[in-house]
Amino acid sequence: MLPDSFLTELKYRCDIEQIISSYVVLKRAGRNLKGLCPFHSEKTPSFVVYPESQSFYCFGCGAGGDVVTFIRKIENLEYLEAVRLLAQRVGMPLPEEVQDDRAAQMKNRILSMNKEAARFFHQVLISPQGKPGLDYLLSRGLTRRTITRFGLGYAPDSWDSLRNHLKGKGYSYEEMAKGALVNHNKNRDSYYDAFRGRVIFPIIDLRGNVIAFGGRILGEGGPKYLNSGDTPVFKKSRNLFAMNFAKSSKENSLILCEGYMDVVSVHQAGFDNAVATLGTALTPEQARLISQYTNQVILAYDSDGPGQAATRRAIGLFEPTGVKVRVLTVTQAKDPDEFIKKFGPQRFRMLMEGSANATEYEIAKLGAKYDRTTEDGKVNFLREFCQLMAGISSPVERDVYIGRWAAELSVSREAITQQVTAIQKQRQRRQQKKEAQNLQVFSQEIPVNRQDVQRARNLRYALAEDKLIVFLMRHPDCYEFVAGQLGPDEFVTDSNRKIFTLLCDRLARNLPVDMMSMASQLEEDSMSRLSWQMASSEGIALNKQEAQDYINTIKKHALQKEGETIASMDDKDLEEYIKQITANKK
Ligand code: UTP
Ligand code: MN
Repeated sequence: MLPDSFLTELKYRCDIEQIISSYVVLKRAGRNLKGLCPFHSEKTPSFVVYPESQSFYCFGCGAGGDVVTFIRKIENLEYLEAVRLLAQRVGMPLPEEVQDDRAAQMKNRILSMNKEAARFFHQVLISPQGKPGLDYLLSRGLTRRTITRFGLGYAPDSWDSLRNHLKGKGYSYEEMAKGALVNHNKNRDSYYDAFRGRVIFPIIDLRGNVIAFGGRILGEGGPKYLNSGDTPVFKKSRNLFAMNFAKSSKENSLILCEGYMDVVSVHQAGFDNAVATLGTALTPEQARLISQYTNQVILAYDSDGPGQAATRRAIGLFEPTGVKVRVLTVTQAKDPDEFIKKFGPQRFRMLMEGSANATEYEIAKLGAKYDRTTEDGKVNFLREFCQLMAGISSPVERDVYIGRWAAELSVSREAITQQVTAIQKQRQRRQQKKEAQNLQVFSQEIPVNRQDVQRARNLRYALAEDKLIVFLMRHPDCYEFVAGQLGPDEFVTDSNRKIFTLLCDRLARNLPVDMMSMASQLEEDSMSRLSWQMASSEGIALNKQEAQDYINTIKKHALQKEGETIASMDDKDLEEYIKQITANKK
């Protein structure tokens, strides 16, 4: 448990606006700031930062909380780790007695175990036992230097060699299973190696931790690649293979490939800025991660159908990040790895230099789709071309393409421009309508937890509870006034009771009740509920009289419940009940 004095000082030094700005582009909107939510994919900003209460809330996905919650979510950290990171950023030493909580300890155990496993796989690879693996990698054209640089390894074709090795180093089977290195056979209650007879690609995060593994089978058979599942230290949707190298590349772009082998080959060919997703399609999170490191991405996906589909998808995902996209068209080979093997690194570099930008790529696709020598084809081409142009934010860039294609199609430049402007206006109107709707929904009710049935059933009481909580947070001096009349037991919804209990507990001990100080004691969903309550009461003053009304409303629920109970009693129970309350009165 961290001392409150430490958290208070940290809070003063970590301005939420400044911290969040390093992850999200924020624009001022009155007293608050708005931006695109980093926790879900969106095109209109619904992510709001409230400098006054030092909190944030997203009206799109319900994420919310204080600066620590933000860092936890965006960096995937435990509470204490997030506090440590913030403290580091503002140069505050952590109090000595701070004990890592259990989850953080488990993460550290898994990380050190992974490091040990990576060492083991690599040692095996360069030992006689690893000959099949080494032969395989060499046959794919990798040099020993590349193999060492990537720390590639070999998992022997055995059920227990890694398991036994790690056991010898003091790791338990449960830990190995948590780290996805072994699987559990429930019937026989035994544990066995997850990777067998495969070459191993360790996945290393930006801080140099081994967080997961990918393994390729030697030769044919399936599945071709096996990847670690998600573990406490690994989320595949948030990480990229070789990002640990690419982040410090001197190139001002990143090359995004489909697979491990492509990345390794491209690196060997002299490009240390290649990365790949980990057995899944690109996610919005990865697109955002990439946008923190570069403003230009070269898509180098496979030349087959799925690769091209993935290219289009990726272009869409990069659009809201502002990253410029270029597309590498690999011809006469299935993927970059094969291309380099066939034609050499020099030709690959030429291919890179000729890579088209995303718009050119899209136009080329349109060109292939419609036959422009027919009237019909020309009209259809133009229709889609205008849609495409309407999406380009730079007027200069738009003008260049329109000029070029007006001439090519012998259509007047003005006609195209007019059409494009019309589409843009239409999109704007739609956008505004959507925003207005969002606002409306918000002013009614957005339950943070959409499955909160209890809340939905007792909405009247839940809303009174919300307001009372906000009132108490703003007027801690009214603690006695509230607590003298109402206890947590009388709260109707469990989610609000949790918050109210903590509030009362802290106020009774004269501790501060701002979000930052309470964050360590609240679960993520409570945190996000609380920040929603604060956010939705923004600018609404609450006085003592109103607080009294809320208290009365909440108390009515208990009465109503009592009424229901009495109605369902039989005569004997009722008699007993009346006796009891008259006895109480005396
Ligand atoms: P590919 O099938 O294109 O493999 O899968 P590749 O990269 O060309 O591999 P080589 O050259 O045959 O060795 C691309 C990526 O998709 C994921 C892996 O991340 C792989 O690198 N994948 C593929 C899997 O996760 N599992 C599979 O069974 C296959
Ligand atoms: Mn390949």
